[in-house]
Amino acid sequence: MADSLEFTRKEFPFLRREIDGRPIVYLDSASTSPKPQCVIDTVNGVYQHTAANVHRGIHTVADEATEAYENARREVAKFLNASPSEIIFTRNATEGINIVANGLGLMPDDEVVLTPAEHHSNYLPWRLRARIVPVGLSTDGFPIYADVQKVISLHTKIITLAHISNTTGIIAPVEHWVEAAHSRGLPVLIDAAQSASHIPLDVRALDCDFLVLSGHKLLGPSGIGVLYGKRERLAKLSLYQTGGGMVRYHSEDRFEVQDVPQRFEAGTPNIEGAIGLGTAVKWLRSLGMERIMAHSKSLGRQLVHGLETIPGIHIIAASAPLESRIGLVTFNLKVPGFSQDALARLLCDRYQILVSGGFHCAHILHHRLGFEGTVRISTHVFTTHEEIDKVLSALHELTDTYCR
Ligand code: ALA
Repeated sequence: MADSLEFTRKEFPFLRREIDGRPIVYLDSASTSPKPQCVIDTVNGVYQHTAANVHRGIHTVADEATEAYENARREVAKFLNASPSEIIFTRNATEGINIVANGLGLMPDDEVVLTPAEHHSNYLPWRLRARIVPVGLSTDGFPIYADVQKVISLHTKIITLAHISNTTGIIAPVEHWVEAAHSRGLPVLIDAAQSASHIPLDVRALDCDFLVLSGHKLLGPSGIGVLYGKRERLAKLSLYQTGGGMVRYHSEDRFEVQDVPQRFEAGTPNIEGAIGLGTAVKWLRSLGMERIMAHSKSLGRQLVHGLETIPGIHIIAASAPLESRIGLVTFNLKVPGFSQDALARLLCDRYQILVSGGFHCAHILHHRLGFEGTVRISTHVFTTHEEIDKVLSALHELTDTYCR
């Protein structure tokens, strides 16, 4: 197939793993992604050749570490079409959202507009500090994005949404939200934790004020993430953490903080994580994000068409246009005697197919739909159409066996 990225599979040692002597089918990349050899080599290389802090040491190895760390920031900036000074390394997307939620100085009567399909990480940091105002939800779990204009009020301080929901797998019309927010002078935060691996990101074209992502879903190491922000927006956020590295001068009577991005990188950062993430995004760019998107959408289409033929399947956000779907589809399938978690476990134990089961940190969406969990199939660059056929055939077999 023209959009096939099958040749990338050989780069992922993890995909050669077996369970019970049989090869695995990994369909859980929305949870976390395997790492390509280039990222593994980069992180190994840091441990083998470097023992130095960044922005602190006065010796050759420290200079090299700082250069590699800042080079990773430049790679991430290229990946997002941002400027390196707008890229803050965080622990993950969650920390990026917390930095913004904390930094805006929200009050309990302030309002934050979002969708009911948001992950905990783009819900709780706001809920803790302000009033949540979600847009509507269709009966099948598709957020009514067009409602955003209706719910913005004089109390709204920010609007935020997942670029691609970790549960619906739908590419949100963020441009519409950015336009709605900017027409009222409000900032927009985009949670790109899922989208970064599947579609091209261009913060200039999106014109978003903040964007967050997680390294571990993006073929990079765990414990590293990114907060992008427009410089003027970042400069206005109050401090998040304080400590070494974020301060330029400190005496008994005053201290002076660094400019962004260092202002938000207190303490020794995840040096090897950032450098590994730099390698991951460079590798993804070399594959071509347009090509990756075409591949992901084609897997998403195959999944939806296949799942639709299985009796008893309820696909989340089934009414969403097929064109806006990536290779991430969530469904509820009632198999007598099996919870959705148990169904996921059965797919692993009987077929060596690894998927997610449960609430995927999107409890609000599941409560609204009245589902005690769902099963999520999620793909990445290395996923093949044959693997999708395998999971569809396993689900057919399970329903034939248990749902007669
Ligand atoms: N946020 C991750 C998920 O969707 C953990 O599974």
